[in-house]
Amino acid sequence: MGDHRYDLSHLPDSADAGANEPAARAARRDRAVRAAVAQGLVGPDEPIAGLLDVDGIRATAAFLHAAFDAVTAPGTPVLHAFAVKATPLVPVLRLLAEAGLGAEVASPGELALATAAGIPPERIVLDSPAKTPAEIREALRLGVALNADNPQELERLDAILDGATPSSPVGVRVNPQVGGGSIGALSTATPTSKFGVALRDPGARDWVLNAYAARPWLTRLHAHSGSQGMPLELLAEGLGSLYDLAEEINEAAGRKQIDTLDIGGGLPVNFHSDADDPSHAAYAALLRKTVPGLFDGRYGLVTEFGRSVLAKHGTVLARVEYTKSAGERPIAVTHAGVQVATRTVYNPESWPLRIAAFDAEGRPRTGDTVVQDVAGPA
Ligand SMILES: Cc1ncc(COP(=O)(O)O)c(C=O)c1O
Repeated sequence: MGDHRYDLSHLPDSADAGANEPAARAARRDRAVRAAVAQGLVGPDEPIAGLLDVDGIRATAAFLHAAFDAVTAPGTPVLHAFAVKATPLVPVLRLLAEAGLGAEVASPGELALATAAGIPPERIVLDSPAKTPAEIREALRLGVALNADNPQELERLDAILDGATPSSPVGVRVNPQVGGGSIGALSTATPTSKFGVALRDPGARDWVLNAYAARPWLTRLHAHSGSQGMPLELLAEGLGSLYDLAEEINEAAGRKQIDTLDIGGGLPVNFHSDADDPSHAAYAALLRKTVPGLFDGRYGLVTEFGRSVLAKHGTVLARVEYTKSAGERPIAVTHAGVQVATRTVYNPESWPLRIAAFDAEGRPRTGDTVVQDVAGPA
């Protein structure tokens, strides 16, 4: 892994401090909606479009770099590998790559998207928990880093390597079992969470220590302690466990066997406003305070932020096709139904969306608020 610090001066002016202020975001969104209507991107024949705030994405990428630059010792290699599942679109991945990010991929499909976006293999991390032999071979052939999910996967890797040293950085994913957050389905650090080696299970820590002792080529260690809904303190506690384990492995090896810690993603997104709260900077500062050894330059870092990079930069613009009522409940029938907002429709508490009304020219609607359901196709 090379040095992934970036000179941000080449980024457009929109990546300046003001570009991600909530008011600036809202103003850009309103201008984009107006332009989309004026240009016929959305209208009677084109009832729905997805808009992405390119300036906002660039600004967030710059802030993410700056957040970790501010807390790491000079020269520390830091790779921000965007979790592709958060926006699996090649142009977005290309934009992020231009802004200095890499990619965390969880399937051969995501790997193909990252590659199509021109992301070099040394900036890609493969984290699928169910890697087939062919997928492992392909990652090794490309030089893509991978994290083994469990003992069987590590044995599979052994068999493929057949005594050779892997050409890719390889780590093991652990589940620090520090507890869950407010979204059960996305809590990945409970005692029974599915991914990684459950570190506090009887014998598990020893198994990890032995696995590293037997394989000098295991140079990374990975944890992803939750995807949304996790308190920052709990995420930090999970990474404290990761760091302690790395220290123990390196001490046992008598050398810096683990040179890179992959700290996962999971920064919770506040879906209720245009503000980045908590911000990557606040999280990085908290991690620095809680686990200072992560940042003193002895370990390279990989992050895998997904939703916190893109969540504030997308707008689905849908035409209201009909208005009606049922049981005195007003309903706006649009083109944005469960097919575009699957999680929100089935689990609105965990995945709230903000909805704004615009007039036929794409100007924000003013006047009295009418509480209504928003419907659309499935
Ligand atoms: C291994 C791994 N890394 C990173 C992420 C990204 O998480 P988030 O979008 O919450 O940052 C996920 C999400 O599922 C994941 O499973």
